[in-house]
Amino acid sequence: MTARAQIGVTGLAVMGRNLARNFARHGYTVAVHNRSYAKTQSLVADHGSDGDFVPSESMADFVASLERPRKVVIMVKAGGPTDAVIAELVPLLEEGDIVIDAGNAHFPDTRRREAELKAHGLHFVGTGVSGGEEGALNGPSIMPGGSRESYEWLGPILEDISAKVDGVPCCTYVGSDGAGHFVKMVHNGIEYADMQLIAEAYDLLKQGLGASAAEIGEIFAEWNTGDLESFLIEITAEVLRHTDAATGQAFVDVILDQAEQKGTGRWTVQNALDLGVPITGIAEATFARALSGSVPQRTAARGVLVADSAAWDIADRDAFVEDVRLALYASKVVAYSQGFDQIAAASTEFGWDIDRGAMARIWRGGCIIRARFLNRITEAYERQADLPLLLADEYFASAVGNGVAAWRRIVSSAALNGVPTPAFSSSLAYYDGVRAERLPANLIQAQRDFFGAHTYRRTDRDGTFHTEWTADRSESPA
Ligand code: 6PG
Repeated sequence: MTARAQIGVTGLAVMGRNLARNFARHGYTVAVHNRSYAKTQSLVADHGSDGDFVPSESMADFVASLERPRKVVIMVKAGGPTDAVIAELVPLLEEGDIVIDAGNAHFPDTRRREAELKAHGLHFVGTGVSGGEEGALNGPSIMPGGSRESYEWLGPILEDISAKVDGVPCCTYVGSDGAGHFVKMVHNGIEYADMQLIAEAYDLLKQGLGASAAEIGEIFAEWNTGDLESFLIEITAEVLRHTDAATGQAFVDVILDQAEQKGTGRWTVQNALDLGVPITGIAEATFARALSGSVPQRTAARGVLVADSAAWDIADRDAFVEDVRLALYASKVVAYSQGFDQIAAASTEFGWDIDRGAMARIWRGGCIIRARFLNRITEAYERQADLPLLLADEYFASAVGNGVAAWRRIVSSAALNGVPTPAFSSSLAYYDGVRAERLPANLIQAQRDFFGAHTYRRTDRDGTFHTEWTADRSESPA
């Protein structure tokens, strides 16, 4: 077997298949392998014209067909299957070879695997790949972690096949060990928030205006020509205007209202709780999916829990639509601001030194959350790399500030009319919380000291204190 392939892909389901094709289309000789050889053969048979594939039936032949340092992309299910492929690969590899996990792995697993393979003299590169099947084939956003040394070898190839915006690759080195998979995880958390916010806007327009799916689709299509321009808004307009062939009804009207999730949003929220970062929008979006699937609770509540809500009476339809648009934009900024806070906190916690401006830059194209306003986020971090709060950046403070009154009208009318808007309303609560001069956390500190002697700090002098609540209520330094 001649070692002539510059990159190899093992795991040829749709994502792996499309990545392999993308590499081949960019002129790389691509070694390909799959547990069932039939899939490998069908890739070459169906798409051999894409470029130069080197198919192998065995893992050993697959590895032998790769030039040194070998670069092996694993595209199999996260968890056990990934560990199994790594275990099969490691004995076949040599010092300096590079294993790239391009699946949606959980970043703690990536950190473990990176350390394990480093002990064998190998590089393990957990890499976020965003953009779905289409992105994998035509240009994803790529978020590689692992050693900086491995990026010397991998970077040019991955940047070649990534999406480009203004000629700039949507791929850059993220940071060591699990940083790449972490950033992909936060990308997915923001994706959940984005999708939930869009769904709430749709629900408000439907319930507030009695608008049909197609009419709402036209509104989203219009919004997609302005600040909200993004992949998710674009596909929402498409989905809402689609007619179900079987019934002739609006497609969305025949879809069951129970959202599923493979787990990346859940991981994001779990990590944020560990780091103490209030990603309220992402959390509410994740819980909203869980609520939609809580069939026993929803069945028990239906017809029993009174609405006692007002009836919508919208005099000015255009003004209402504009209010929803402004509230959607403001809530979206909160979700991204919170996501970037989480990246900063993890970067400090794990010593990754992640450049948030670079993350915004590579998310401008290829990925699911690609959006026009990621250019504005990139610019915000170019103005101040260590920006403590994206929301407070001059551009966003002004843009969101222009929409606050509308945001308040929408959240309050949703509450008055009984429409659930967990992401819109929690984002407004976050906005008011983060800008508040004084929060009622002072009372919580007093309560904690009363029942648990957990101590408190004062506004008028340094130190921590405890009050003898059950004795003479004197205060003493803790
Ligand atoms: C991407 C997508 C991809 C996956 C979604 C769906 O970036 O290309 O995010 O990773 O399709 O995460 O996952 P859920 O089932 O969790 O919505």
